[in-house]
Amino acid sequence: MRLDGKIALITGAARGQGAAAARRFAEEGARVMLTDVLDDQGKELAAELGAEYCHLDVSNEDEWAEAVAFTISTFGDISVLVNNAGVLHFSALTDTTLADYQRVIGINQVGTFLGMRAVVESMTRAGGGSIVNVSSVEGLGGMPYLVAYTASKFAIRGMTKVAAMELGQHGIRVNSVHPGAINTPMVGEALGRPVDISPIGKKVALRRVGQPEDVANVVLFLASSESAYCTGAEFVVDGGATATHALS
Ligand SMILES: NC(=O)c1ccc[n+]([C@@H]2O[C@H](COP(=O)([O-])OP(=O)(O)OC[C@H]3O[C@@H](n4cnc5c(N)ncnc54)[C@H](O)[C@@H]3O)[C@@H](O)[C@H]2O)c1
Repeated sequence: MRLDGKIALITGAARGQGAAAARRFAEEGARVMLTDVLDDQGKELAAELGAEYCHLDVSNEDEWAEAVAFTISTFGDISVLVNNAGVLHFSALTDTTLADYQRVIGINQVGTFLGMRAVVESMTRAGGGSIVNVSSVEGLGGMPYLVAYTASKFAIRGMTKVAAMELGQHGIRVNSVHPGAINTPMVGEALGRPVDISPIGKKVALRRVGQPEDVANVVLFLASSESAYCTGAEFVVDGGATATHALS
């Protein structure tokens, strides 16, 4: 059991990569608090995994305080936080409204900031812990039509390093994960229709898109003590997408 004794809070855990992480964490012995805004799906998965569920809109400061307090009262002090919740919004720079921009930043970037800040006291009391911030390959390079998303994911990569520097003295490690094209509902949700992203897989070295489990296994490694000497680092899970550049 690679997460024996760990108490984990995962955001955006009702589906996609967050759900896959929750599943792997439960299999490896963690006590897991799934959180999301999709309450029915989240509750259903938590019941299946023998875990708990709590509503948490990550952009809301008060809801963070409530979710952290509920996790502590249910399980004890938090040893793992996965800041996974995120949204995508496609539009050209000139067509992106301030409201679109702020919505994406509010969830992806502010949500990650609020989450890290909310667990420090509890993790410190626990004697240390691991924070895993889900960024993207758009936190490593720019993507046209994703100005807000790219900004938010670069910010997550940067704040991960600041938090790692400040929190290492408390035994808290903070790392970022950078998935490439992963087969989840995210792109379809942003475009308002189901989308087959498998053709994108042909472009990368491993010749396939990623599955949520590909990312969940890296998140599991970072949550576990196997990564005890890793902090402030970037972990890419992209099938080789960022191993090359546009001129290749
Ligand atoms: N799928 C990809 O190709 C890909 C690539 C790189 C990075 N990512 C990142 O991975 C993470 C997980 O995405 P996914 O692919 O599983 O997508 P997904 O859309 O399946 O899952 C995202 C989850 O976040 C939840 N969520 C949305 N807004 C929220 C809010 N305000 N508060 C709390 N939860 C909220 C959704 O309800 C959903 O359950 C995101 O941060 C995303 O940006 C995804």
